Amino acid sequence: MTDNIALWQLSLEISDEFISVFEVLMEPFVESLMWTVDEDVSGVQKMEGFVTAKPDLALIQGVVDAACVELGIVAPMLKLSPLEDRDWVVENLKEFPPIDEGRFFIYGSHVTERPLLGRIPMRIDPGAAFGTGTHATTSGCLQAIDDLGKKHVFKRPLDVGSGSGILAIAMAKLWHIKILGTDIDPTAVHVAKKNAHLNQVQSFLDFRTGPGFFPIAKSDRFDLIVANILARPLTQIAPDLGRHLKPNGYVVLSGLIERDERFVVGAYRAQGLKFKRRYVRDGWLTLVLQKR
Ligand SMILES: C[S@@+](CC[C@H](N)C(=O)[O-])C[C@H]1O[C@@H](n2cnc3c(N)ncnc32)[C@H](O)[C@@H]1O
Repeated sequence: MTDNIALWQLSLEISDEFISVFEVLMEPFVESLMWTVDEDVSGVQKMEGFVTAKPDLALIQGVVDAACVELGIVAPMLKLSPLEDRDWVVENLKEFPPIDEGRFFIYGSHVTERPLLGRIPMRIDPGAAFGTGTHATTSGCLQAIDDLGKKHVFKRPLDVGSGSGILAIAMAKLWHIKILGTDIDPTAVHVAKKNAHLNQVQSFLDFRTGPGFFPIAKSDRFDLIVANILARPLTQIAPDLGRHLKPNGYVVLSGLIERDERFVVGAYRAQGLKFKRRYVRDGWLTLVLQKR
């Protein structure tokens, strides 16, 4: 059985207000981290970390327990599950029905349904990467991209935290221009490249591995930057993002909840960006800002 295990999944449930704390706690132990709203329990987030080598559960639980003593809260019980190769893919596909978002029709390879006339079809097989379009942050970004594209012409967009490549592929399909995507997770970059091929837009896409703006030349400038990552990394990349954004350029930010809005917008205001629009879905925000 161990031979078939492609990934280990560490999961825990925590209250909304501790997402950022647990993100910092879990990051050193996992290669990729995501969180989903548990719709049956309000205010509770399910956080899932993925790692290729079997992690030391007792060690991580000890770190979590110690942090929770400091925070004065009951420590969540961590769950470690092996994800066998075949099961992981099948599970992903089962949970991934086709999605109509703005002008996009997003579907997995298992879907036989045809898109309605006028829709832009996007085939996304997420594999081990985040970004099927079902999460409120991804769909918020797709909506924002679609709306911006109706009013503006973009020539050089960037997608920071490209995951499955869904947002970069959407921009390539809409505008047929070169798009740069970056992700800290090499697995996500591999998946994004595969999805670019599936959608026959690989010639427009350049996916690179690395945190934030690290894989990007210092002189490179963009007229649209999309970043669907958590509130803390969003504020951390704000100075670099401000530098790499052309005057009058637009930014689409997601991965934050309402409580983080002032903090995130403040970081971008400090870089000379002004708030333009917000989309709210299932408590998640997608913000549009513009450089003055
Ligand atoms: C929430 S997913 C978004 C994926 C996709 N863009 C979407 O909208 O569905 C966040 C992605 O950002 C990546 N990420 C997190 N922090 C990052 C950072 N500092 N720099 C680059 N990528 C990062 C993660 O590996 C993950 O693939």
